[in-house]
Amino acid sequence: MEDSRIGLPIGTALDRFIKRFQDDFPYATGELSQLLRDIALAGKVVNREVNKAGLINLSGSIGADNIQGEDQQKLDVLANIRFIRAFTKGGEACAIISEEDENIIDLHNNGKYIIAIDPLDGSSNIDVNVSIGTIFSIYRRLSPVGSPVTSEDVLQPGINQVAAGYLLYGSSTILVYTTGNGVNGFTYDPTLGEYFLSHQDMTIPDLGKIYSINEAGSLDFPDPVNRYLQYCRENEHTARYIGSLVADFHRNLLKGGIYIYPSSPKYPQGKLRLMYECNALSFVVEQAGGKASTGNARIMEIVPADVHQRCPLYIGSRSMVEKAESFHQ
Ligand code: AHG
Ligand code: MN
Ligand code: MN
Repeated sequence: MEDSRIGLPIGTALDRFIKRFQDDFPYATGELSQLLRDIALAGKVVNREVNKAGLINLSGSIGADNIQGEDQQKLDVLANIRFIRAFTKGGEACAIISEEDENIIDLHNNGKYIIAIDPLDGSSNIDVNVSIGTIFSIYRRLSPVGSPVTSEDVLQPGINQVAAGYLLYGSSTILVYTTGNGVNGFTYDPTLGEYFLSHQDMTIPDLGKIYSINEAGSLDFPDPVNRYLQYCRENEHTARYIGSLVADFHRNLLKGGIYIYPSSPKYPQGKLRLMYECNALSFVVEQAGGKASTGNARIMEIVPADVHQRCPLYIGSRSMVEKAESFHQ
């Protein structure tokens, strides 16, 4: 079996993998490692709840909107609670930005890290047994530990991420993450309660055939997007759209493809959120050799002005993103 870049084979337990990574950094204090373990553990709990949702009255809406004006599902709220509890107990994070919370959650502790999280991505698929996920970004705070968390700590561009990734609760549950040294995927074995390295040094094909976009919106899409879609149709591409960003992204990462959520009159900046959807996946895709852009700028260079800021997203195989961008010039 071929070794990963980090020198560990397929089947390596996540914990051993994290430990090995930490050993490569002589001055690492282990806090980032612990944060990744916290995410993995909360992911197990959410995975269990997602799996049982239909049986334990966890389906459906709570009957209230979140800050985005979107109908909150019971599992959105529950997943948010699970992750926030894990970070609060862990003590490594000093502040959390969550899709489900209007304000920054300041944990008032000596944690070094800032987390941005979409606790449950793919709300419209929660009740219908279609893949959903969790997306996370980790930043190091800029101000000294012990001082109050500042807006500069929180509003950092994606290029400052120290780690990012996602959990996909699909036909199997997988944790995919990067710390800036390639991308690795760990499949969860529920019978053992453990994640194992299943996808080493993931790379996205430079060119694929899949395009993923909610084409029903095409009457409202900018002209360059429609011209690119026409190019796809004329060039033997195939359409795949699940409607859970994390699931569409994961498929395209493995098979090659492009995911687009453009601007439109309804969503002038696109629908997806820069800090807890776009940046995390942009870091992963770049580490896998792909590309992420707004159509004409690199996602990870945007300096956020607001934690819930949105941005148009073109993400996936490098050549496909560049082709889509070429229609904007
Ligand atoms: P969330 O469930 O976290 O609010 O995110 C939903 C997002 C994303 O997962 C998906 O790709 C997109 O919304 C789908 O939007 P459309 O229904 O407009 O296609
Ligand atoms: Mn989402
Ligand atoms: Mn969500």
